[in-house]
Amino acid sequence: CACCRIAPSMLASDLSSLYSEASSILAAGADELHLDVMDGHFVPNITWGSPVLASLRKRLGGEAYFDCHMMVAKPSQWVEDVGKAGGSRYCFHVEALAGDPLDFPALCALIRGAGMEVGVAIKPGTPASAVLDFVSLVDMVLVMTVEPGFGGQKFMPHCLPKVLELRTKFPGLDIEVDGGLSPSTVDAAAAAGANIIVAGSACFKPGANRPEVVATLRRSVEA
Ligand code: DX5
Ligand code: ZN
Repeated sequence: CACCRIAPSMLASDLSSLYSEASSILAAGADELHLDVMDGHFVPNITWGSPVLASLRKRLGGEAYFDCHMMVAKPSQWVEDVGKAGGSRYCFHVEALAGDPLDFPALCALIRGAGMEVGVAIKPGTPASAVLDFVSLVDMVLVMTVEPGFGGQKFMPHCLPKVLELRTKFPGLDIEVDGGLSPSTVDAAAAAGANIIVAGSACFKPGANRPEVVATLRRSVEA
């Protein structure tokens, strides 16, 4: 429906207390938990995989929405595990398809068969045209506004024309932005047409008033 959803990135939270950080940000009004899975190959960093997702799912129960951002070299390899671990949406990178045995439609079918919604992500250097032909197969397009791999990077406004292009062509599409989003950059992303906002550092930096940050991001999208 292209409704506003705020998806804090757990990468910026205190990972030694992942469950309480997740509970805290959900209580602060978050709609989704954005969970960045990195494999050290697709991006030069490693985070966690399905065992951590499964533990978090077990403690949080069935309600919380897990937005799994899969920064992995072979997206088809982890679909079954992430589905069993309680993933809600499996967002793969279109750039990774070159090294995957499955093509776009087959990967989408695999993800749906595992009980998850489908997202496709594009890096800052990838044009929107890389996904245009496949939009009908997905529930969401993620337009990265930093190079994937690390939290706390600077927002890249030059990625926003891709959001506008997608919003113009697909008025009802869920479009997520991820990287450097904060109360000071969200207005530009929302104006371009983004309706799902990922924010890591902005939500979890020391001293942040979490309910206030989530509410501020939401107000910008709903304005
Ligand atoms: C970066 C990740 C992001 C990251 C966002 O590769 O995909 O989700 O955690 O963090 P901030 O909001 O700090 O840029
Ligand atoms: Zn992410």
